[in-house]
Amino acid sequence: MACEPDMETAAVDLRRRLARQLEKDGWLRSPQWRAAVEAVPRHKFIPRFYRESDAVDVTTWEPVTQETVGKEEWLRLVYTDETWMTQFDGHDIDWADPKPISNATPTSSSTLPSLVVRMLEDLDVQDGMSVLEIGTGTGYSTALMCHRLGSESVTSIETDEGVARRAREALTGSDHTPHLVVGDGRAGHRAGAPYDRLIATCGFRSIPPAWLEQVRPGGIILTTLRGWMRSLGLVKLVVTGDSASGWFSEDDPSFMVARQQDAPESLGMVPGPDDGTARRATYGPEVLGTSGRAFMAQLAAPDARFFSLALEGGPVSTFLLDSATDSFAVLAPTDDGGWQVRQGGPRRLWDAVESAVGTWEEYGSPNTAAFGVTVSRDQQVVWLGNPNGPKWPLPS
Ligand SMILES: C[S@@+](CC[C@H](N)C(=O)[O-])C[C@H]1O[C@@H](n2cnc3c(N)ncnc32)[C@H](O)[C@@H]1O
Repeated sequence: MACEPDMETAAVDLRRRLARQLEKDGWLRSPQWRAAVEAVPRHKFIPRFYRESDAVDVTTWEPVTQETVGKEEWLRLVYTDETWMTQFDGHDIDWADPKPISNATPTSSSTLPSLVVRMLEDLDVQDGMSVLEIGTGTGYSTALMCHRLGSESVTSIETDEGVARRAREALTGSDHTPHLVVGDGRAGHRAGAPYDRLIATCGFRSIPPAWLEQVRPGGIILTTLRGWMRSLGLVKLVVTGDSASGWFSEDDPSFMVARQQDAPESLGMVPGPDDGTARRATYGPEVLGTSGRAFMAQLAAPDARFFSLALEGGPVSTFLLDSATDSFAVLAPTDDGGWQVRQGGPRRLWDAVESAVGTWEEYGSPNTAAFGVTVSRDQQVVWLGNPNGPKWPLPS
């Protein structure tokens, strides 16, 4: 969408301000990426988007366009350090008459610029390198890479046809012509391989094997890993032939899960009140919601999800269900203020969670930077401390 001349001038100013802010906050560290942020017109990539509204009881998003909020406010919002949603539940938005949206899952967005540039800085690119991006989305991050490396060095894969088409239009409109592919990024794009760098802006449950084949030895894979309960965070892997390994970052940024790896609709078998073998639990369900422990729970129960529910007027119980193996753990409060767990199915889910949390505590409750990942042809594991330390497999 073209802006009027004074809007373009205002956009230049807003971009400079954004770049200054990102630099001050420590995200932008190099003059080349700063130049890219100052040059790429984010407003061409998100001419219309959704932001979360203040509604209290249910998460609702409201449309933001030049018409709904006015030109100046729209432009100001475009250049704030926020993630703006552009698609929900895989459906394109009827922008002729956009309505507030609730009870929906975002499936495409323009990621907040601080996370975009922080990942680009972490990618350690040098002039002349080729990059494969997974998750073109609006095309904004693709455009930053085109500015830094030249369009001919950038390949980007987007799984959603409509999203990919709009990104192509926006990229062409800002004079960038990267190689754009519509498809499942898990397959990579063999025709453009080998790549020096691979960056994913959607989350994966494990590292797709094709990436190891298509990134050259010594090259870098930067992606977030995630499960169905939470994000595990950002990993930076160095490829060495047919394996790769590296560390998690200190924080745990989160991206939407790759579309093909969304949790199955069915939660699986919900156990009845007498199912399973009961014991006293060492930890209660709070471990599922506190950051370090929840990271361990995600590692220990990679196919599980949880919810809390009061059964037949009783106290609130927490159900941890693994639909891959039909295993369950149900946590209920006891009269003395502790917790009882009932477990059933082939995987003893709460045993695994408690063991993982116990190990983490023995190691001094470290943050995610103490963990790493090793990926080979036949297995992928997250380890603590070093590759010979305690290990948890990623789902294959
Ligand atoms: C957070 S958005 C990308 C943000 C984007 N880099 C930007 O700057 O606007 C994630 C994108 O990944 C796409 N995606 C999800 N699964 C994918 C897959 N398996 N392969 C390629 N793209 C995928 C989604 O459709 C979505 O557009």
